[in-house]
This record gives sequence, C-alpha cells and structure tokens, in this order.
Amino acid sequence: MTTELRQSWEAYWGEVAQAGETALFDSPSATAAAVHLRRCMPHVDPALPIIDLGCGSGRQTVRLAESFTRVIGVDIAEPALAIARRDNAAANVEYRQVDLLEDAAVAALATELGEVNVYVRSVLHQLSSDQQQRVLRGVAVLLGHRGVLIVHELTTLTRWVIRSFIESEEAAPVKFARLQRHFGMSAATLQDEDRQLDVLLTRHGLHVIESGDDTLQTTQLDADGAPIELPTAWALARNPLS
Ligand SMILES: C[S@@+](CC[C@H](N)C(=O)[O-])C[C@H]1O[C@@H](n2cnc3c(N)ncnc32)[C@H](O)[C@@H]1O
Repeated sequence: MTTELRQSWEAYWGEVAQAGETALFDSPSATAAAVHLRRCMPHVDPALPIIDLGCGSGRQTVRLAESFTRVIGVDIAEPALAIARRDNAAANVEYRQVDLLEDAAVAALATELGEVNVYVRSVLHQLSSDQQQRVLRGVAVLLGHRGVLIVHELTTLTRWVIRSFIESEEAAPVKFARLQRHFGMSAATLQDEDRQLDVLLTRHGLHVIESGDDTLQTTQLDADGAPIELPTAWALARNPLS
C-alpha cells in the first residue's frame, strides 16, 4: 500500500478514537454482518476459519465469530486494531496488522491457515485497479477449493450519493466531512470507471455464486435523527471448480 493511504487510514482511525465516536461505516452488525451471514450460510463451511480483510474497528468481525469457529480480523491501521481489540474481543477472534497489498504477508496467512472463508466489507472500492487485482489474487489463494468470499462494497452509485452530501450547499454531515478531509473524496476521485462488483470479481477469475443490491446503514444521522443509508452491492464468490 502506498505510505500515503496507510497514513491516511491511521490518521482517520486515530481521530475517530480520540473523538470517542464510531466511524461513518461502523454499522450495527444486525444491519451488516448478520445480513451477510444469512445470505452466505447455505454456501459456506463454517468449520473453516474466516478472515475479515480490512476489519476496521472489528464491529462486523465479532459478529462473524457467532457463526464461525475461528475468525481473524486483519487491517493496516494499528489505531483501528486497538479499537477492535478493546471493543470487539471474543475467545475465537484475533486481530492482526497485515497489509493486504503485501503478497508475502497474504501468502504467509494462506500457509498458516490453509483454506479459509474471506469477508471483505468496504475495502476494494478505494483501491486502484492494480491494487484490486493484487488483493483479489491473494483472496483466491486464501479461498483455495472450499472457501467462499463474502463481499459488500461501495459502487459508483454510492460515490454519487456521498458526493451529493459533500457538495451540498449546507455543511456536509460531520462524519462525511471527516472522510473527505482524510481521503479527499473529491469530484475527481469519484469520476472513476464503473466497477460493478460482480463484474470486478468475474474479471479477476472468481465465480460469482450470488450477487445483488445492498444498503449500508451509516452511523451518521440525518436532520430527522434517522441513520443515513447508502446504496451498495454484495456478492458471494468462490474459485471456479476445476
Ligand atoms: C471503509 S473501512 C471498512 C472497515 C470494515 N471492513 C467495516 O466494514 O467496518 C476500510 C478498512 O480497510 C483498511 N485497509 C485499507 N487498505 C488496507 C490494506 N492495504 N491492508 C489492510 N487493511 C487495509 C482500513 O484501515 C480500514 O479499516
């Protein structure tokens, strides 16, 4: 990962911790991981470990631990892992600092753990095409023959909605403004190629089992006190059966 993006994530999570707040995308797990689990359970072997790639505060990770024997949350940002270890610990969950873009680190996980399921929520959208290719190549190695990828991502439509908040004539809601400050979600960033999730996964050699539209319930409240929701996408995928 570029040092710049890593520093941005560390600064973002440091500020969230210092403010004693939740991150914008730290949805209640009942609206996120629990929903993804219901969709994936018919297709996964819960006896395989599951890795939460880019686990952030661990709010979703710890929910995975109710359905899987062993859960490993990995993230680049130490301040996020500190929140996860403090707030979202469980006997069958561990948190580790790993850069998903370091091939050797991902290969070491595969060697140590064998085939695993993989959960990815709101991580791929921020990467360049080359970085997505690298991460999805690593995911394919981690999945092996039996693992299933459970993925929930922001799409072009999500970016359009975020931009409408950031560029509105009224002040951007505070948690959207924090993201913009750290990641510069400017119009230039948002004018990206249309990367639909199932197209992205298929292009990188994965077999999509199911996919569809989703919603991300943010922790930012609107003027009426209701959580702002973002349109997103979900998919389940595996390596093609040979
Ligand atoms: C938008 S947050 C989502 C966090 C969590 N998956 C969730 O749904 O709440 C993206 C996370 O990916 C992590 N991340 C970004 N690039 C990474 C990388 N190269 N390796 C590991 N983690 C990374 C960030 O630190 C951040 O915690």
